[in-house]
Amino acid sequence: MTEPVFLITGASRGIGAAVARRAAAAGYRLVLVGRTAAPLDALADELGGGDRVLARAADVTDWTALTGVVAEAEEHFGRLDVVLANAGASVVTSFLGEHGAPPEQWRDLVLTNVYGPALTARATLPALRRTAGHLLLTGSAAGRGVRPGNLYAATKWAVTGLAQAIRAECVGTGIRVTLLQPGLVDTESIPPSRADDPKLRPDDVAAAVLYAVGQPPHVDVNEIIVRPTGQRN
Ligand SMILES: NC(=O)c1ccc[n+]([C@@H]2O[C@H](COP(=O)([O-])OP(=O)(O)OC[C@H]3O[C@@H](n4cnc5c(N)ncnc54)[C@H](OP(=O)(O)O)[C@@H]3O)[C@@H](O)[C@H]2O)c1
Repeated sequence: MTEPVFLITGASRGIGAAVARRAAAAGYRLVLVGRTAAPLDALADELGGGDRVLARAADVTDWTALTGVVAEAEEHFGRLDVVLANAGASVVTSFLGEHGAPPEQWRDLVLTNVYGPALTARATLPALRRTAGHLLLTGSAAGRGVRPGNLYAATKWAVTGLAQAIRAECVGTGIRVTLLQPGLVDTESIPPSRADDPKLRPDDVAAAVLYAVGQPPHVDVNEIIVRPTGQRN
């Protein structure tokens, strides 16, 4: 079978699951990664199971687990064409300490949002080089502007830098690199304080992802910023 293979981290719900559904509809075979097996298995069943979808529980901050999944995916499908480094976490923070999560919770946020996509890139780029493939990273509109006291936004600034560093290193390989910067999206990760703000649907972001990967090989969509109409920053 030669249909292209699309690996998604953070695939079990939200933006990742919406991309999985659109990618399956576009004919991709899928590798779905997240920490919790049950929702990944359910999505894999929904999208064809067996020959078409490999669902594996792995933490993107665990190098051994991540490289194991990538090796298994190449073994199972024979190739890897597109990777979306999408797994991420969000907590409310304050550097003045006036509200938000205690600093003990900040470590996991930074590891998941910065170390995770860095490891995902390192684990998958050798395979993408073999197919002249496409790496996408889910940053955020929060990775472009100033958000007072917001460590999450700082991690997304790091993803902005990561995408640029990876693209610069990949010049000459045929690999395309896209930084995805969504505004507020209606998923489980948004804080209650944003409940009444305008929001995108996860499928709106998935449509943007499929636009980028659907371009011909000589077109590298480097950045996609998509906000709900009326979002302030
Ligand atoms: N929602 C928004 O407004 C918004 C806006 C801009 C950017 N983003 C970014 O979009 C991405 C997806 O967010 P979302 O809103 O779709 O969130 P979500 O609905 O909470 O989904 C997060 C996904 O990531 C997985 N995950 C979390 N930590 C992981 C880890 N350490 N290793 C592997 N998988 C992990 C989760 O599954 P498990 O818990 O089972 O691991 C889940 O599949 C994130 O990078 C987020 O920062 C979101």
